[in-house]
Amino acid sequence: MLKMPPAFQMPNVNLEEVSAELARTGKRVHVLWQEAETLAFVARGREYRSEFHINPADEVMYMLRGEMRLHYRTSEGKEEVSVLTEGSIIYTPSGIPHSPRFPPDAFALIIERKRAAGEIDAFQWYCPKCDDLLYEGRFVVSDYALDPVSTAYAAFFDSEQHRTCGGCGNVTPDPR
Ligand SMILES: [Fe+2]
Repeated sequence: MLKMPPAFQMPNVNLEEVSAELARTGKRVHVLWQEAETLAFVARGREYRSEFHINPADEVMYMLRGEMRLHYRTSEGKEEVSVLTEGSIIYTPSGIPHSPRFPPDAFALIIERKRAAGEIDAFQWYCPKCDDLLYEGRFVVSDYALDPVSTAYAAFFDSEQHRTCGGCGNVTPDPR
């Protein structure tokens, strides 16, 4: 038996229309729904995507338009790339540092779950010269509509100290 409040409207969303709306407004994400066990949003790609995101939840990404290069780091710390062509879907288990790189005219449907109370998302940057960990930002992602990735970006790029490598001294430039 379904247990839903009587006023609940099941979201029924056309993904083409959502993508067109993102392209028109320039916004990065459009949240379709956020519930305890399911959260879905359409994301437009962004320039300069360089961080690795570590989710406390599993994630499914489906490429609606364009191509994604999903960089990720293995348990040995090696960087690999999985290319997601238009119409392809990929499953990323929780805990794998991953960096979805796709251009602003490409769109992906992302499905995960809403964070439980106290869960932390981590965003890591590595040195482009020596691959040392440069900086890790840790955030509580309570609401995807607040665009947590942009918050993490600002924390990294606004600080030259965060972008300076403790290993080799290289300063990652701010490309914005
Ligand atoms: Fe370095």
